[in-house]
Amino acid sequence: MKRILTGVKPTGTLTLGNYIGVLKNLKHLEKEGEMFIFIADLHALTLPIESEVLSKNSIDITCFYLAAGLDPTKSHIFLQSDVHEHAELAIILQNYLYMGELSRMTQFKDQSKKLKDNAIGLGIFTYPVLMASDILLYDVDTVPVGEDQVQHVELCRDVANRFNKRYGDTFIVPKAQVNEVGKRIMSLSDPTKKMSKSDPKGDIFLLDDEKTIRKKIMSAVTDLGSEIKYDVENKPGVSNLLTIYAALSDISIEEAEEHFKGKGYGDFKKEVSDVVISELIPFQERYKKALESKEYETALKEGAKEARKVASKTLERVKNKIGLINLND
Ligand code: TYM
Repeated sequence: MKRILTGVKPTGTLTLGNYIGVLKNLKHLEKEGEMFIFIADLHALTLPIESEVLSKNSIDITCFYLAAGLDPTKSHIFLQSDVHEHAELAIILQNYLYMGELSRMTQFKDQSKKLKDNAIGLGIFTYPVLMASDILLYDVDTVPVGEDQVQHVELCRDVANRFNKRYGDTFIVPKAQVNEVGKRIMSLSDPTKKMSKSDPKGDIFLLDDEKTIRKKIMSAVTDLGSEIKYDVENKPGVSNLLTIYAALSDISIEEAEEHFKGKGYGDFKKEVSDVVISELIPFQERYKKALESKEYETALKEGAKEARKVASKTLERVKNKIGLINLND
């Protein structure tokens, strides 16, 4: 059976970008294969974060996974830090990735630009090593992610191929799986920038109430002219709203353009708000239920157990290949 893995970093409140890029599709993917879905809590430590915030965000993300329709009896939902093999494999894999490769990563370049040299933690630099370990431990075929993570998955493929070449087949080489519509949702206040939880200007948050969502979309930056047309270069604001509408209505961009032909920006934004609200309000209800019932606790305990079964076997295989002796079994 096909295996699928993805993760979200609990650094802030999730956005509509995270939802459209990944969360929305998880329940469909559950029908395609065995899912390993985790909260990348060790990755969250790469930027300064308060301990209470990290714990709360981790629980929230688990509840978001449940609200997205994942069935914890089928999919394995777990905390990265609950499966020590992630950290252990990262220590091994770091020797097969090079400084040059890591310094070319866009995420590293963007995030380190915002920090003073003496405040750039080593973890931001080695981030893709841990991410490659997250993926390779589970022998997965596909990794559903937004476009911004594709470069990291490519690097994971490189290290897997490099390792396999040196030691013989050890890792399955996974592929990134990116949605055609909605792979990069942009900020509503600056549609040339990605909607991002680490730079929350112009974000719609998954827990925003109806009034806030409507206000944010109605005041979203649009472009000169009045035509509702998908043209990222000349009409980035309109193109972004069209993408949001198309992704949440499960239609193509062309169908969305056709739908809005002859309409004005006011009606357009109202309909985009309606579609976002009718997706997020029931989602929020399911999130609250998962939080209040503490359903997340059982999900995380069971998920970690299942994840460890697979991860420990892979790590053992790697250790054997590279000559680390195990006399304990
Ligand atoms: P993170 O937490 O930044 O984002 C979670 C997922 O949401 C996608 N995403 C978006 N998609 C569309 N439009 C946007 N504006 C947008 N913003 C975010 C991201 O691409 C991602 O798929 N490094 C990862 C977490 C991670 C991971 C992994 C993912 C750690 N290990 C192994 C997959 C496999 C991250 O920081 O995602």
